[in-house]
Amino acid sequence: MAEVSLGFDTIKVRGGYDPKDHNYAVSVPIYQTASYELGDTERFERIRSFSESGFLYTRIGNPTVDVLEQRIAALDGGRAAIAVASGMAAITYSLLNIAEGGGRILTTHQLYGGTVDHFKELFPKFGIAVDKVENPDDIESFRKAIKEDTKVIYIESISNPNAIVADIEAIANLAHEYDIPLVVDNTFATPYLLNPLKYGADIVVYSATKAIGGHGNVIAGVIVEGGTYNWSNGKYPQFTAKHYLLRDAEGNERSFAEAAPGAPFVTRIRMNYLAYFGAVLSPFDAYLVLLGLETLSERIQKQVANTEKIIRYLEKEEKVLWIKHPSAEGSPYKELAAKYLPKGAGGVFSFGIKGSETQIDTFINSVKLFSYQANVGDARSLIVNPPKITHGELSPDEQKVADITSETIRLSIGLEDGEDLIADLKQAFNAAFK
Ligand SMILES: Cc1ncc(COP(=O)(O)O)c(C=O)c1O
Repeated sequence: MAEVSLGFDTIKVRGGYDPKDHNYAVSVPIYQTASYELGDTERFERIRSFSESGFLYTRIGNPTVDVLEQRIAALDGGRAAIAVASGMAAITYSLLNIAEGGGRILTTHQLYGGTVDHFKELFPKFGIAVDKVENPDDIESFRKAIKEDTKVIYIESISNPNAIVADIEAIANLAHEYDIPLVVDNTFATPYLLNPLKYGADIVVYSATKAIGGHGNVIAGVIVEGGTYNWSNGKYPQFTAKHYLLRDAEGNERSFAEAAPGAPFVTRIRMNYLAYFGAVLSPFDAYLVLLGLETLSERIQKQVANTEKIIRYLEKEEKVLWIKHPSAEGSPYKELAAKYLPKGAGGVFSFGIKGSETQIDTFINSVKLFSYQANVGDARSLIVNPPKITHGELSPDEQKVADITSETIRLSIGLEDGEDLIADLKQAFNAAFK
């Protein structure tokens, strides 16, 4: 199927899958197998040397997972994708694949708490330093923070939890000026609202646990390779070093750049990180993500519509101090959102409650429809207090820099009736401030 010429909604239900190759099954089958018959020794040699495609062992590839990979790559306009067992694995594998062996990651303070904490606690133990820009809205702030051994810039397209919108094109141009790649966590936007590769990003990562899966029933991650970055520019010798593992059919050792010229980045993740660090996505979980993906556009459209209704209500609620979402009145991200997110800025945002800690706790404890939990992008609406939960790993000082104040509440808007959600928030305000 020539997927490039097909529309988003066609790809999301059909991409990467031809029923003829799967006993004419309409729904993508779950290939619940650990390993595969090799056929004969010659066939194994052809698959091993990449002269024929095929599966050897589910830790490095599985036909159900493969459909998901092809589908997401097509939705994002990427060259190839690889699915992994979680969004965290997608982030970690991507950044280690670039900066392993030393170097620096340049990023912002405005990131998911787990990402902040593993940058702080774990990456330095792998010889990788992390620098943060002072002002994520100022491209010169990024420029100032680039050092000789900066290997990559990493950002969230819509940040967690305050929904700040990154100027991806400007940041990608800057990264390329210094010959380094840009990795974008596009979890909040999903491929439906934004394709970062179109604006120059080189690698896109997702927590598919969130809106891509969309039903709060699976943990999954995806990495998409744009296919345009030159990994052989001398800064990343891991892509040009010869490997015994990558021998061609004649037995000549090759590098990842030689063995997989179209997609060296995800191929290296597959053959090294997935194969040896092993955070593999199971075929059943890939099936759940594929099922969720089939309704991605419809869900996001409804979530965006509900979000805008709820923001209109919160703007009038006297106990609300502020709202952080591009569609909120006075948001400084309106212009960037108009450029990057014309279909809407997603269904996750934060707001501040004017009240004591006890009143904020009572508000959370009083909602009946919103589920109190640390997830986003679910079909159900969710509520959480980021300073204690999703960003609880950050010290008070780090929270201050990241603009996560004690009164911050994050909502992830689901598919319920918008009026019911508003009524739920109203009665929770009444309970907290009676
Ligand atoms: C923006 C963002 N990226 C990545 C992750 C990590 O994803 P996962 O929970 O699938 O490991 C999260 C999780 O909450 C997130 O909010």
